Amino acid sequence: MPSYVITGVSRGIGYEFLRQYSSDPSNTVIGIVRNKPATDKKVSEDADLKDRTNIHILEADCTDYNALKAAAEATAKITGGTLDYLIGNAGLVSKFDAFDPIGELGKQPELLTKTLRELFEINVIGQVHLINLFLPLLLKGQTKKVVIVSTGLADFELTNKYDLELGSLYSASKAAVNMIVAKFSAQYKKDGVLFLALSPGMVDVGHYKELTPEQLQAMGSMLTKFADYAPHFKGPLTPEQSVTACRKVIAEASIEKGNGGDFISHLGTKRWL
Ligand SMILES: NC(=O)c1ccc[n+]([C@@H]2O[C@H](COP(=O)([O-])OP(=O)(O)OC[C@H]3O[C@@H](n4cnc5c(N)ncnc54)[C@H](OP(=O)(O)O)[C@@H]3O)[C@@H](O)[C@H]2O)c1
Repeated sequence: MPSYVITGVSRGIGYEFLRQYSSDPSNTVIGIVRNKPATDKKVSEDADLKDRTNIHILEADCTDYNALKAAAEATAKITGGTLDYLIGNAGLVSKFDAFDPIGELGKQPELLTKTLRELFEINVIGQVHLINLFLPLLLKGQTKKVVIVSTGLADFELTNKYDLELGSLYSASKAAVNMIVAKFSAQYKKDGVLFLALSPGMVDVGHYKELTPEQLQAMGSMLTKFADYAPHFKGPLTPEQSVTACRKVIAEASIEKGNGGDFISHLGTKRWL
């Protein structure tokens, strides 16, 4: 009975992870959300999910250490004290830095500071506590895999080669968590725990529905660079496509294959699109 803990299952990629992993009744899938009643309602109204008894929703803001600790304790009660997979998916995709380069952001120093702090709270510090709190369960599990959802935008080579100037603060927070993943791997590889920073590709979760013409133009220039990088790129994946690909990568990655501490994409490589 493989067990999974996935953070941020209220919507987007996390909800799709919940949907796909729980489709196998032998999996126990524990989703962590900020608003349990809202996600319970969503699941109960979802024709595919509503009768699945292997779904457990727990409430924790991933920036709240004590709430995460309580979620780890509740998980232990559900699984009998073990865990096979931890997927740190919850994250902040900031809007403030999405459309302007870092030099422009400097004209709003207070907002810049606030956004960077918020990004590090959830995308970095929250993941460190999440991993540390669930490690005792993972060490008693069979599979011992920790996946932190990152982004190809945190890749230095890609950024430098294509002068990707947008998403600077967000990308920095994900680059930081990539190193956190590598450091956890450095400590726990000998115990058989695989740590992976995994980019899900560019995924349409509805973030960019209501853009101003200026924002659309900024996005357009980024998409032109993406097309330059990956001529086959035709636009974002659906959450279903992305998670299907990510699950394959998670299943196939191993310490033996050299993936300990790796930063790779839904394609299982360092191709991000
Ligand atoms: N979409 C893409 O193209 C893309 C590309 C690369 C990487 N990613 C990464 O994929 C992950 C999922 O993002 P998404 O695209 O699915 O975006 P999303 O639709 O905005 O979902 C973000 C999820 O994170 C949760 N969350 C945010 N802050 C939280 C906190 N403090 N505590 C607990 N949960 C929190 C949200 O919960 P609430 O509902 O409570 O807000 C939501 O479930 C993120 O780590 C993101 O950086 C996405």
